[in-house]
Amino acid sequence: MKKNPIQRNIDISYKLAGQFEETRFEKIHNVIFENSNVASITVAHEIADLIKERSIRNELCVLGLATGSSPIKVYEELVRMHKEEGLSFKNVVTFNLDEYYPMDKENIQSYYYFMHEHLFNHIDILPQNVHIPNGNIDAKELHQYCLDYELKIKEAGGLDFQLLGIGRTGHIGFNEPGSHYNSGTRIITLDHITRVDAAATFLGIENVPRRAITMGIATVKGAKRIVLLGWGEHKAEIIKETIEGDVSSHVPATYLQDHKNTTFVLDAEAGSKLTRNKTPWLVGPCDWKNELRNKAIVWLCQQTKKTILSLTDKDYNDFGMSSLLAEQGPAYDLNITMFNKLQHTITGWPGGKPNAEDTNRPERAKPSKKKVIIFSPHPDDDVISMGGTFDRLVEQGHEVHIAYQTSGNIAVSDQEALKFAEISERINPKSEETQTIIKALSGKKEATIDTPEVRQLKGWIRRGESYAATRYIGVEDTNVHFLDLPFYETGRVKKDKLSEKDIEIMCNLIREIKPHQIYAAGDLADPHGTHKVCLDALFEALEELKEEPYMKNCWVWLYRGAWHEWDIHEIEMAVPMSPDQVLKKRQAIFFHQSQKDGVMFQGEDSREFWMRAEDRNRDTARKYEALGLASYAAMEAFVRYHFNNF
Ligand code: F6R
Repeated sequence: MKKNPIQRNIDISYKLAGQFEETRFEKIHNVIFENSNVASITVAHEIADLIKERSIRNELCVLGLATGSSPIKVYEELVRMHKEEGLSFKNVVTFNLDEYYPMDKENIQSYYYFMHEHLFNHIDILPQNVHIPNGNIDAKELHQYCLDYELKIKEAGGLDFQLLGIGRTGHIGFNEPGSHYNSGTRIITLDHITRVDAAATFLGIENVPRRAITMGIATVKGAKRIVLLGWGEHKAEIIKETIEGDVSSHVPATYLQDHKNTTFVLDAEAGSKLTRNKTPWLVGPCDWKNELRNKAIVWLCQQTKKTILSLTDKDYNDFGMSSLLAEQGPAYDLNITMFNKLQHTITGWPGGKPNAEDTNRPERAKPSKKKVIIFSPHPDDDVISMGGTFDRLVEQGHEVHIAYQTSGNIAVSDQEALKFAEISERINPKSEETQTIIKALSGKKEATIDTPEVRQLKGWIRRGESYAATRYIGVEDTNVHFLDLPFYETGRVKKDKLSEKDIEIMCNLIREIKPHQIYAAGDLADPHGTHKVCLDALFEALEELKEEPYMKNCWVWLYRGAWHEWDIHEIEMAVPMSPDQVLKKRQAIFFHQSQKDGVMFQGEDSREFWMRAEDRNRDTARKYEALGLASYAAMEAFVRYHFNNF
């Protein structure tokens, strides 16, 4: 079967799991779509077709369902088909994979709540046909309850279709590492990484249950058809291990390798580490476009531990790149082209160097004083991700505006908010507003939604910290904009969808400033995360404004969010930092005190933000150095986003 690196059109190869032949690297049929939306819609259509096919034959359709962020769009499309196209679920029986234990149905974190919120409340499924493990079952009855759950699946005729997500531990359902291939429904202890990943939704790891009831590996593999969804860069590593690695209980999803009707449906980011995408020259013939060539040469330097200019013809041949050498060689020419390309990305003048010849510089020299907007998803990403560049832009006399896209209120802990409320109480003991806040915070149960007053206070705390940082860098308060995009203001970790209001707020600011440069977080790690939504808001605003005359002079530069950095071959502007600038950036990050020391959304990385930022910037500088370019203390990196065909 011909394999496309990216599936742009939905075609027949999506369902060809049965005809999939193992390759040297891949052991599971997988299809990579352009994005998770298109992919989810395709999967929803497969499910709908199955339901209709069964309905025509007067048969039941038994679905195994998953929760989490991965299947949300699939459910949304099924609901749409029910509402707009009359898709009926009357003949559908569902079994959910898992539920936290213990867990009340009414709890907004329960999978029971999730399934009703996203699917069951909006379709015509018969309530008696819905099965979700009961997170409140008495411990003494658990064993029998799990056996009965298995029995019910069998009695319904077995699973026709099983929808899965995958955890970073390689779990399917909650079958964590160590799960046995013939395991059935049972109670398990959640892996630490799984709890870390769930911590954001539960507002802190301490609130995440330690156990769960889950269908077993054998239960899942009993399904006639299995589709596993994988979105985002944070899944890329485990997807590679699952598809290319050996079957092992350490990565339970690898058990799917011997289920012959399984398809992994991926977006480009989740599929990016598969060998055929990451190092395609090791798999077969390549179309050596510039980007692939650059990627391959950086990889070759890493493999040989050589600088670009010392690579030889033999190196290219020995490492599977003989076709590149034959087409574009000799090594000398390839090396020089690559070296110059990287050399030209380095600039200490992110706003352009006035009066300099700029043919080979990342930015234009003119106008020498530019108007700049730095969009920051949360009130701190600006300094964390591009504090050094921000500082240079201000120092070099550009008119720099900072626009914080969201209030960031949800990431301020209750204790932090109480501290400020109590200070306010000391200043004005009679303030009713302060008393309301103190009361709300003192009587608050874990993981419940904040009152609007508390949310406002938390937002103010982040504003205060932002002003401290921007003043330190030398920006006037009038150039600091708090957009408080409405999609974020749900008071919960789950956010609303982008609406016209969000886009309008973005457009208004761009219209008002008419910038020559826009910086934004190009964070692709989590398709459902706030950074990605903020980026989508910018993309939509650019689409709306692209015909405006001033936009013809506007260049957009993307920095990466707090966790990742661009790959070296992708970087189009690298801004070096001196040791002093590294310290100044650290100080600017320190002003965001509510985000210091064990923040609520720490992720699995226990380093504080300033440490991550420094490690990352130092790492980029070391990588440039290892390739044979100049050695700097640290570097911030950017990729240009072309929206107006210039
Ligand atoms: C959910 C489930 C889990 C998730 C997995 C991925 O019912 O069983 O295996 O599918 O943890 O979660 P998300 O989709 O949130 O990344």
